[in-house]
Amino acid sequence: MGKILNVGIVGCGGMGGGHAIAIASGTGNAVWNADSADSAAFKGSRNTDISKKLALAGVYDIDPARQKWAAERGFKNYESYEAMLADDNVDIILIATPNHLHKDEAIAAMRAGKHVLCEKPVTPTSAELEEILKVSAETGKVFYPRQNRRWDEDFLIIREIYENNLVGKTFNIESRVHGSRGIPGDWRGKKEYGGGMMLDWGVHLLDRLLYMIPEKIKKVFCSLTHVTNTEVDDGFKMHLTFESGLTAVVEVGTCHFIKLPLWYIAGNHGTAVIYDWSCDGKMVRLKSWEDKDAVPILAGAGLTKTMAPRGDNSVEELPLPSVDFDHNELYSNLADVINEGAKQIVTGEEALRVLKLMEAAFESDRTGTVVNFE
Ligand SMILES: NC(=O)c1ccc[n+]([C@@H]2O[C@H](COP(=O)([O-])OP(=O)(O)OC[C@H]3O[C@@H](n4cnc5c(N)ncnc54)[C@H](O)[C@@H]3O)[C@@H](O)[C@H]2O)c1
Repeated sequence: MGKILNVGIVGCGGMGGGHAIAIASGTGNAVWNADSADSAAFKGSRNTDISKKLALAGVYDIDPARQKWAAERGFKNYESYEAMLADDNVDIILIATPNHLHKDEAIAAMRAGKHVLCEKPVTPTSAELEEILKVSAETGKVFYPRQNRRWDEDFLIIREIYENNLVGKTFNIESRVHGSRGIPGDWRGKKEYGGGMMLDWGVHLLDRLLYMIPEKIKKVFCSLTHVTNTEVDDGFKMHLTFESGLTAVVEVGTCHFIKLPLWYIAGNHGTAVIYDWSCDGKMVRLKSWEDKDAVPILAGAGLTKTMAPRGDNSVEELPLPSVDFDHNELYSNLADVINEGAKQIVTGEEALRVLKLMEAAFESDRTGTVVNFE
């Protein structure tokens, strides 16, 4: 067991405040509104006790209301970012400010001898991340992108299905999130702060997909939506074609009052669906192709054999596989990378590939064309 590493958090808003509670409590649970319906979502099956790896040194936020919030919970408020960087007690700077600030804060932290855990999207552009990675290489300090949604149960179930061909060989994957509140908050709707839903949620969905599918991406086609915001995208629909021919649809929407499923995965021997974050869903698997032909059925104003339902003897409905996971693995891995030189689970290079993919998506939307990617 290595040294317990002290974390200083810059930006103590929604997410930074969550990190402060997660680290100070040692539970890793970032929910600070205990009455929130979402509190039940934190249910890793073997969560590491992070109090043995990380401790909270303090926070820095420019907003007096957030300083008060921190003080009321007994967290130390630094008087400036510089003061936090000058504290020899601080080993890691956790960046949870609006996106446009991440680059300068990360570079200043590494130059001050600190390791960095940086909220997603680590930067609004790939060029900015390249600058950060250069400084990380120069200083030997760890730069860790916080792509925490690799530990979402719904994603881990889909990965289990995909990697083990539980619905046969996958030919299409759909990954989406639908909300109905438009773009929340003050800075997420503005370009200068690195706003927009591609950078906010797209970064999660694309990171998970690229982590799961070890293939080059050949083609990208994307349309952004501007239903509630003209300055930045309030959602998008992206089509990806991988080297093997596998296709994926990735969608983020913020004006959907009926949600489509989080995941829909189609293979040559079955289909799986996950409806929501409670991981309600199912697999329907082919037992036999024998029942290939059907007598025509009446469908709408016409007859069809192609779309006739299958009989129970040729398909079976199965529950989704269960998965074993540690919701605190990212925090824990960060500490192990610093203390023991463990392999970094989320790397800067992976974050760079995702940023470049998002840039290809923006280009596709701008030009209305398919963009060749890798
Ligand atoms: N990984 C996740 O699941 C997840 C979830 C939510 C947010 N985030 C990320 O966390 C970051 C913050 O998002 P949020 O939702 O907490 O936003 P927020 O607006 O709730 O909080 C941002 C905080 O930063 C403070 N701030 C602004 N400028 C500052 C400065 N110069 N120095 C210090 N503090 C400053 C603000 O006062 C505010 O309290 C973003 O990068 C966002 O994408 C990640």
